Amino acid sequence: MSVIRIEGSRELRGHIRIQGSKNAALPILAAAVLVPGTTVLSNCPDIRDVDLMKKLLESMGCRIRSCKGQIEIDASGVCQCHLQKEYIEGMRSSIILLGAMLGRFGKACIGYPGGCVIGERPINYHLMALRELGADISIVEDQIVASAPCLTGREIIFPISSVGATENALLAAVSAKGVTVLKNAAKEPEITALCQFLIAAGADIEGLGTRTLKIKGGPLHEVHYHIPSDRIVAGTYLLAVAATGGCVSFEDVPTQELTGLTDCLRTMDIGLQCQKDAVEIISSAKYRAIPYLATEEYPGFATDLQPQIAAVLTCAEGNSIIEERIFDNRFGYVEQLEKMGASVLHDGRRLMIRGTEKLHGADIEAGDLRGGAALVLAGLMADGVTYVKGCQYVERGYEDIVRDLSALGAKIEYADEKPPTRISHRVSSQQAARHGG
Ligand code: EPU
Repeated sequence: MSVIRIEGSRELRGHIRIQGSKNAALPILAAAVLVPGTTVLSNCPDIRDVDLMKKLLESMGCRIRSCKGQIEIDASGVCQCHLQKEYIEGMRSSIILLGAMLGRFGKACIGYPGGCVIGERPINYHLMALRELGADISIVEDQIVASAPCLTGREIIFPISSVGATENALLAAVSAKGVTVLKNAAKEPEITALCQFLIAAGADIEGLGTRTLKIKGGPLHEVHYHIPSDRIVAGTYLLAVAATGGCVSFEDVPTQELTGLTDCLRTMDIGLQCQKDAVEIISSAKYRAIPYLATEEYPGFATDLQPQIAAVLTCAEGNSIIEERIFDNRFGYVEQLEKMGASVLHDGRRLMIRGTEKLHGADIEAGDLRGGAALVLAGLMADGVTYVKGCQYVERGYEDIVRDLSALGAKIEYADEKPPTRISHRVSSQQAARHGG
């Protein structure tokens, strides 16, 4: 189990470049299966979920070469449409291979995907969309078995907006005969990135950035695509500076995709200077609460930044309310913040946060990716030493949070698996007295 040790209450200063986007890279890697040749992706993040997706592609017969953020996928010899359970269960994005395999082979067999435990994560709308395009899908001993000798385009109306279901439908639709229209499709920047990739590979897609996508099926060809920067990593680090104080300039930030967060930072009285792909943030570590904040689909406030902003608001001046509208159980980290002195009331999908002067260091444990990032931020804000266990979750989405934050002046390092047993304050004062000080 990965453990991070943090000595908090230090300002962050300097300059940082933001890595490529996890949630853009993963479906695009899956989409490479549809290209009967070589796909070259640059700016791929060096993270666990990308490694897992590469293993999945290799197990299907893709030949992969990686060097310094560039991944080349030769899918000309891809042959396997039955995927190994342990890789599938390792992450959520494995389900996107269902649409890709149906498009390439006309059949697929895949287990249920894993991913962060943040509430119910059904795949009913993924299956609905693929069935509407002509796939015959059944569940046999926990495996999704699908076949579609001929996918056929048509209009699909999603009852709710789902990022993953839209991605699966897109991959099947580019391989289908005729025209598909996806209505109430997700319009997150990662969907736009997937569409741009497919268009660069020869697909005909209209409506990028809107809730209606029109896709004309047709053959794809070899392509080179640059993965855009990760808006959630950028947002996490912006929040780190807001909370600890300091001044940091960010490079390769998709500023226009972060308005949900930058509006909040301005409400909190944090100084920001935004350019097209750069941001400078200045904070005194004193900031106001946000009376009410709800997570929403893009361009609203991203659910993937909800744990991090909640951690920061525990030390705001005043009270904040956060409502989580996307996932039904994304507050697993709250109990850990309470161990650090945070005052948070959890009621269903809402958190009531009473701003306190300071958090204190504690031994805490991450249970998911963004919740883990939030705990690292709490450690940076706290007085004293914090040990965050379970940081392997954080490694799923952040290339190296320890490297990045130490480069900005944080006292943060990887630690031994087991934090040393804490001595209570009373005992340690007695010991100090015995040792003369
Ligand atoms: N939903 C259904 N049925 C479906 C699909 C989704 O009911 O068939 C519900 C979900 O339960 C959820 C809501 O729809 O309540 C939205 O889920 P969505 O499908 O949009 O999410 P996802 O595709 O599973 C992706 C990201 C998440 C991010 C969400 C929302 C990836 C790999 N994951 O998940 O990212 O939170 O979109 O933006 O792209 C993360 O990076 O930490 C992460 C969890």
